[in-house]
Amino acid sequence: MQQSKINALRGTQDLWGDEAKSWEKVEARSIEVFECFGYQPIRTPLIESTSLFSRSIGSQTDIIQKEMYSFLDRSKNQISLRPEATASVVRAYVEHHLDKKGAGSKFYYSGPMFRGERPQAGRLRQFHQMGVETLGVTHPYADVETILCLNSLLKHLGIEGAKLKLNNLGSFEERAKYESALRKYFQPHRKDLCQDCQERLSKNVFRILDCKEENCRRAADSSPVILDFVSKKDQEHFDTVTSLLKSLGVNFEINPRIVRGLDYYTRTVFEVTHPDLGSKDALLAGGRYDALIVELGGESPGAVGFALGVERLLMILKAKGKNFKDSSVSVFIVALGDRAYQEAFSIAQLLRESCVPTHMDLEAKSLKAQLRQADRVNARFCLIIGEDEIEKGKAVLRNMFESTQEEVLLDHCLEEIKKRIG
Ligand code: HAM
Repeated sequence: MQQSKINALRGTQDLWGDEAKSWEKVEARSIEVFECFGYQPIRTPLIESTSLFSRSIGSQTDIIQKEMYSFLDRSKNQISLRPEATASVVRAYVEHHLDKKGAGSKFYYSGPMFRGERPQAGRLRQFHQMGVETLGVTHPYADVETILCLNSLLKHLGIEGAKLKLNNLGSFEERAKYESALRKYFQPHRKDLCQDCQERLSKNVFRILDCKEENCRRAADSSPVILDFVSKKDQEHFDTVTSLLKSLGVNFEINPRIVRGLDYYTRTVFEVTHPDLGSKDALLAGGRYDALIVELGGESPGAVGFALGVERLLMILKAKGKNFKDSSVSVFIVALGDRAYQEAFSIAQLLRESCVPTHMDLEAKSLKAQLRQADRVNARFCLIIGEDEIEKGKAVLRNMFESTQEEVLLDHCLEEIKKRIG
């Protein structure tokens, strides 16, 4: 009896073929950029104590209230799948005293995050982020370097048409004043707001500012802006960032409506949007979170970073017809008969150990079927070995792109192929 099928969970994805290859290339290229900026790799667990996220992201945020995958483990510990990595990086930094261990204070990561959001294009329940964090630095130069890094990243990945928007959120105290001013402002507009924003009015009034509903946008149009509430010191910090970015030729706009959905931010925040992403248009986002290290038990305040959504990046590259397909030259060894297979395995081993991508058929198919398979994997060369060739100590080397072929000595296959690959 046929068993019922089990499908992937909603909001999760299987990737294979060119898409999986593009993914790996994008990740490798991003790491090149991160390493050029002096960030070191860090890997933190996918599961953490739930309290890590509620204390850092904020207990009233949508992520904590509605989106976390949380459960009690067998020992009754409250555990969550990570919805983002910043909190985990700070936890690791504080827990292992990384600043005192010569591990540096600049880290990059890449990996899956989990949020139980309503799935749609560009919004998944398991999605992937690549990000960087600079810890223990309060100076605005760190904000500038972080923004230069994201600019280089987009350039290196060939992303055009992205928009960088900056805002200054000031300190928590100033934000509290701004929060009550916003609440006062929105109260008379309550009935015009969408259901979510009516709830946000008491719990998380900032999020009304980035609601996409037309009525909420209209209501927010003449609301007070944070820039009128920030202190002189925070304004100076922001001015240093923006004037240095200007002098370095970085394009950006200041948008007082960027409030971010996580509570740990202070001072500089930013988002990069892209028109190809539709309504979920944030490709990456980040900012400064000066208080988080101390909040999680560390000593040195100051931190800044960003994270980019890999699925959204791939959506843009796909819309632009760009891909990062594997461009390495590969070889397909066609073998006909048992003796030929033995020879083929031994040559394949030599090629693979010399880092030449090499394919073989593993089902003793016909010549025609094997050549078809070579076409499918886009092999540039086919090495054809049959009984006759073994008798003569030779093989046929076919250039699949130029449709030419020649005989090569079996004992010299590796050198002959390497010579042609160059
Ligand atoms: P975030 O804005 O929540 O920030 O997420 C950063 C990026 O992750 C977004 O701009 C988006 O591209 C992607 N993303 C978020 N949620 C989803 C989803 N459900 N499906 C697909 N992509 C998604 C953070 O996570 C902060 N930790 C960023 C940061 C790092 N701030 C300082 N350092």
